[in-house]
Amino acid sequence: MKRLYALLLLVVLLPCTLFAQEKDRDWWKHAVFYEIYPRSFADSNNDGLGDLNGITAHLDYLKRLGVDAIWITPCFPSPQVDFGYDVSDYESIDPAYGTLADFDRLVAEARKRNIRVVLDFVLNHTSDRHAWFQDSRSSRTSAKRDWFVWRDGAAPGQPPNNWGSVFGGSAWQLDPATGQYYLHQFYPEQPDLNWRYPEVEDAMMEVARFWFKRGVAGFRLDAVDRIYEDPDLRDNPVKVDPDGSETLVETYTTNLPELHNVLRHLRTVADEYGAVLVGETWTSSVEELQRYYNSLQMPMNFVFTMVNRPSAPEFRKQIHDAERGLGWPVYLFSNHDITRHYDRYGDRAYNDQIAKALAALYLTLRGTPILYYGEEIGMTNNDPARVQDVKDPIGRRFWPHNKGRDGERTPMQWTAGPNGGFSQTAPWLPVPDSARTHNVAAEEKDERSILRFYRHLLELRHTNEQLREGNYVALNENDANVLAYLRTYKGKAVLVAINMSAVPRKIALDLRQHSFGAKAKTLLATESQPGSIHLSEISLAPFGVYIGEVK
Ligand code: NOJ
Repeated sequence: MKRLYALLLLVVLLPCTLFAQEKDRDWWKHAVFYEIYPRSFADSNNDGLGDLNGITAHLDYLKRLGVDAIWITPCFPSPQVDFGYDVSDYESIDPAYGTLADFDRLVAEARKRNIRVVLDFVLNHTSDRHAWFQDSRSSRTSAKRDWFVWRDGAAPGQPPNNWGSVFGGSAWQLDPATGQYYLHQFYPEQPDLNWRYPEVEDAMMEVARFWFKRGVAGFRLDAVDRIYEDPDLRDNPVKVDPDGSETLVETYTTNLPELHNVLRHLRTVADEYGAVLVGETWTSSVEELQRYYNSLQMPMNFVFTMVNRPSAPEFRKQIHDAERGLGWPVYLFSNHDITRHYDRYGDRAYNDQIAKALAALYLTLRGTPILYYGEEIGMTNNDPARVQDVKDPIGRRFWPHNKGRDGERTPMQWTAGPNGGFSQTAPWLPVPDSARTHNVAAEEKDERSILRFYRHLLELRHTNEQLREGNYVALNENDANVLAYLRTYKGKAVLVAINMSAVPRKIALDLRQHSFGAKAKTLLATESQPGSIHLSEISLAPFGVYIGEVK
């Protein structure tokens, strides 16, 4: 009899446990991610640079905002030529940011608040100071020679082929010590690893394990589309633009099919720890993006960031494309490589309203959003005014046509005080004047601030089942100014209406075909709205937002 009970218990409990585990594995689907540029987030020791203890000290702020996972851009030992994307030791912390003990404390404190920590995995290249490269460049017969991509020049003084670096110039650097060229798709100080060499794959999987064992919940995979190149070194095709200028089409240096085998391998390792893989997946179409879903849970949809103006039809199309894809959408507007969206979309008259409208858009869509630190307070880009102030090498190289990426990496604005309350010493990048109005302390107190709006939105997103789980249903699809949609779940729906224009608008909605009535209960709006509205007349201020539950 006892045995029968035990068996029954097993039959009942096992599926429940498996289901719970499965659900837990999908934690990232309903998580709100927040990207932190550690150098610029919070400076705990007043040396002008942000650090890990600074992040730990602000976990309560992040919790209150509604963040579930932080992605920290590289904080490993590095000569900082590319501000951490040139890693000289994958298994430690750069002393400028703290110690491994600080990191462990950050993970532990984050865990107490139910916030997961995701790190940046720089797979494509190391720093030229990494011991692997030092060994590799020491002689042609070094045991690590094939860990990097070495080739003879095509002719004396000529690189092996026409491949170009993302940061300008040839992708090949002659190393006089051994007379051969090495490949670098980014700065010469960032030699490309040779993923065709099995020992590289093994070593990097061990790096992943090292961090997973320390409690890291996943990785954002840097430059993931570039880890393989054509083994025959075929020249990239040259495209001549109508103005006569020439660009290289990166046929033989990006998106080679082999890379998916490595990603699948990494995914099996990540799965052992229930971890998530987020891809820096720059693609020109959603179709191209779909391929990454074979191995990654969260390939970022950069196509969405390319809209670059508040436009109902264009966003409708982007959402439609992401929705018809096979994978769970991953949305973002800003990061440390692109101009902050406050400036990209801002019209200077309604910047704050536009910031709220965009937040309302991507934080109410089906999918996972990735915020960039400071967007929740409306931080602007602060591009350097003089070339001698530029820190990012591409800014120095291409000045003034390209001022580099310093502008989107300035210190977090905590208060209206000196240096935005980031540090008591001059920070590594200057804080813009807008910090006087756009800072955490001031916005905490102002119930109409961008910060308070983000908080309300995220609270709604976490607590409302329709926003968490619901299907996306487009409404009024021919409206050129107002983007409206439903999120429907279990017979209930939330309506989102966003005026993407600088003119007040009125829309009328008839939801009978979707089996809903003519009224909505207001959940959140940018302007004051009655507790309940009639759907035949929804009034929206310029860039105004209305979110309500329809009955
Ligand atoms: C993409 C990173 O986001 C960027 O900041 C970096 O410069 C390159 N990859 C090279 O690692």
